[in-house]
Amino acid sequence: MSCQIVILYYSRHGSTRAIARQIARGVESIPQCEAILRTVDEIEPTHTQAADPSITISELKQCDGLAMGSPVWFGNMAAPLKHFWDKTTQLWVAGDLIDKPACVFTSSSSMHGGQETTLQSMMLPLLHHGMMILGIPYSEPKLHSTQSGGTPYGATSVSTEHSPLSEDEIELSQQLGKRLAQTALKMKDH
Ligand SMILES: Cc1cc2nc3c(=O)[nH]c(=O)nc-3n(C[C@H](O)[C@H](O)[C@H](O)COP(=O)(O)O)c2cc1C
Repeated sequence: MSCQIVILYYSRHGSTRAIARQIARGVESIPQCEAILRTVDEIEPTHTQAADPSITISELKQCDGLAMGSPVWFGNMAAPLKHFWDKTTQLWVAGDLIDKPACVFTSSSSMHGGQETTLQSMMLPLLHHGMMILGIPYSEPKLHSTQSGGTPYGATSVSTEHSPLSEDEIELSQQLGKRLAQTALKMKDH
């Protein structure tokens, strides 16, 4: 038995993608779990080159767990991600995502610039689809000590021009990926 965890994100400048990569490392540290990195199509043409393929409805339908990430755009998820979810009515009608575990992640340029509202904005369509949302429990020591990203509601980073993720942000992202994979594996087992 193998568990397929889709890590679906939108990233214009790479910061959200960097968190997605760390969540994928956490997922793949769990035996029998595979991370599938996917992005969404742009609404308008840009010069940004996508680093991963765009997700298909069928890939989303077949996943055993989902991590979803967006940059903070005015305190909300980025429009291309919302646009994608607005095309998933057929999955909602069929109840295809019900009881699948999910988690969310985000990146912002300022510490108090809307990370928590953006995480919540991504939880809404997932809850409508019947998914089971996981956060990061306070048993993770880095949640107590981080000076930048990392919240109980999901993995986050505060991006600066040249800095990669902080050590705490990396650890918390990986732990969230592990927790998602372990939960998906347990749920598939029953
Ligand atoms: C349209 C737009 C709106 C943004 N709004 C916010 C915001 O409300 N708060 C904030 O801290 N950063 C905001 N930012 C900055 C991004 O959240 C930040 O640079 C993020 O790390 C980009 O992620 P990415 O590299 O994955 O695209 C905004 C950026 C854009 C392009």
